[in-house]
Amino acid sequence: MSSAPIARPRTAIVVVAAGSGTRLGADAPKAFVGIDAHTILRHALRGVLAASPAQIVIVVPGDRVGDARTEVDEAVTESATADGASRRDLVSVVAGGDTRQQSVAAGLDAVWPDVEFVLVHDAARALTPPEVFARVQSALEAGRDAVLPVLPVVDTVKRVAGEEVIAPVDRSELAAAQTPQGFRRDVLFAAMAEADGDHTDDAALVQAAGHAVVTVPGDERGFKITTPADLERARGILRGDHAPASAAGPRRAGASAGVAVPRVGIGTDVHAFGGEGDLWLAGLHWPGETALHGHSDGDAVAHAIVDALLAAAGLGDIGLHFGTDQPQYAGAHAAAFLERTRVLVAEAGFAISNVSVQVQARRPRFADRRVEAERVLSQALGAPVSVSATTTDGLGFTGTGEGVAAFAVAVVIPAAVRGRAS
Ligand code: CTP
Ligand code: MG
Repeated sequence: MSSAPIARPRTAIVVVAAGSGTRLGADAPKAFVGIDAHTILRHALRGVLAASPAQIVIVVPGDRVGDARTEVDEAVTESATADGASRRDLVSVVAGGDTRQQSVAAGLDAVWPDVEFVLVHDAARALTPPEVFARVQSALEAGRDAVLPVLPVVDTVKRVAGEEVIAPVDRSELAAAQTPQGFRRDVLFAAMAEADGDHTDDAALVQAAGHAVVTVPGDERGFKITTPADLERARGILRGDHAPASAAGPRRAGASAGVAVPRVGIGTDVHAFGGEGDLWLAGLHWPGETALHGHSDGDAVAHAIVDALLAAAGLGDIGLHFGTDQPQYAGAHAAAFLERTRVLVAEAGFAISNVSVQVQARRPRFADRRVEAERVLSQALGAPVSVSATTTDGLGFTGTGEGVAAFAVAVVIPAAVRGRAS
């Protein structure tokens, strides 16, 4: 497998896993306790790796760095992208500190200087699905400084002093905080530098520094494994005993009769030759080849994939999400479209299973670059993309070389089903 260089990600995810797990009371640090055949850390890595490509910093107890590296290698291998080697390069493991905040600080020291957004995630929230990461990421990209995933509080809550109930608390004013908590890098780093005292979460620290924190919906599966009962709950979810509320099916496209089944989508795109500059097709730059027309770079292969995925997730089509009224996509290349589509699909409650795309063109010749195209497209999507190419025997507009056509089929799986099956 190749380890071609990849674009430096805009986001880093710091996963804190250096706690001892006193309340769990197991004979290993909490992150290294098994839920099923796999540890809490390994399950947490699964969610993190399924999120958009990011630098990943794992913070573990000092004497567990080697063990964590092994877990990372296995999780990366399993993560079903066509780019395992390059993903591995995104992950580092560092030693944590005595408190959570010190562990976060140790993780931040390893964040690359050009990263713009930092998500801090508790490994103990091992079953957090990728769409929570996507929601936090989207809010940051929309310009928020600090983002907190929350769940409504369902219990009736009282303020107490010792045994005595002092007052009821209006639960509509309350929310339960989860992770990953997301921040603009400069905001988090500045707040950490001026923090006085220890905070149990990063949003509290950033708020103490005077920044507004906004909420996005969390997920029931993002509960924190703290006590033995929590560990049993996680085991039950993985066995499929008591599916969490959101396992009834994705929120928008839904599955019939409460049974979550994979969904398929189809997409087609055509562009004519005669654009400005060099050709971009299938996420690749083709110097010396005639460019295609289009609002963006005219990459018919990428656009067909986007349409197939949106259709599979029941999200409409490319014009709805990437129309000419969106200037940020003027001249944009495949990665911008695919990374955004990946977020949209995740937010709708689906994981991408795979995509198959066929390009019909007389030129360029794909034979030598087909595998490279698969790697680039898979990387941007975080799921395997197969690329095939054909000429059409001189017939039709693709045969005469007036333009190219691309046809894609995508399969998506309700995220809850994927979580339970694994
Ligand atoms: N954490 C950490 N470094 C610490 C303490 C906590 O990285 N010094 C991490 C934990 O590994 C966990 C997250 O912070 O993923 C939330 O902490 P918590 O659930 O309290 O875990 P522990 O501190 O390990 O558990 P306990 O408080 O029961 O000892
Ligand atoms: Mg703790």
